[in-house]
Amino acid sequence: MLIKSVQDAMNGQIRNELYSAYQYLAMSAYCESANLPGFAHWMRMQSREELEHAMKFYDFVLDRGGKVSLQAIDRPSDEFSSPLDVFEQSLAQERRVTSQIHDLYALAQQEKDYASIPLLQWFVTEQIEEEKNAGQVVDTLKMIGDSRDALFLLDRELGQRQEEEGE
Ligand code: FEO
Repeated sequence: MLIKSVQDAMNGQIRNELYSAYQYLAMSAYCESANLPGFAHWMRMQSREELEHAMKFYDFVLDRGGKVSLQAIDRPSDEFSSPLDVFEQSLAQERRVTSQIHDLYALAQQEKDYASIPLLQWFVTEQIEEEKNAGQVVDTLKMIGDSRDALFLLDRELGQRQEEEGE
């Protein structure tokens, strides 16, 4: 049986991951409108991945005999000034999620809920990847500056993102 405090925090994290999915979808729409189909594709894939993250917590709560209580999801931001701004907001979002996951991990340890640790460890590791991916694109965008040609090539590269197995 899942401890109530951990169950509540996991329900909160389902909402946080769904909010991320929603935020990435807003980013995808902006990129599509800005004529950057590769960026839009990358963001759409990321949105799907966030939905899967939410479902990992959803399934886990149910598998442990807990209660899933879905919460209201805030409206995502749709104010973006450039592709760099989009990825900087994405990196900030991932850093927030990392901190949420770390808080959840600390709570599970404090409550001696050892059965939750493997799932939370998976997310700790996943967040390293998430921050790295967003950070790399931020660095590349800073490097290419105002070059339309380089932006075009990056758009093509981001458009090749494939769905990841088991994410
Ligand atoms: Fe589910 Fe990108 O954190």
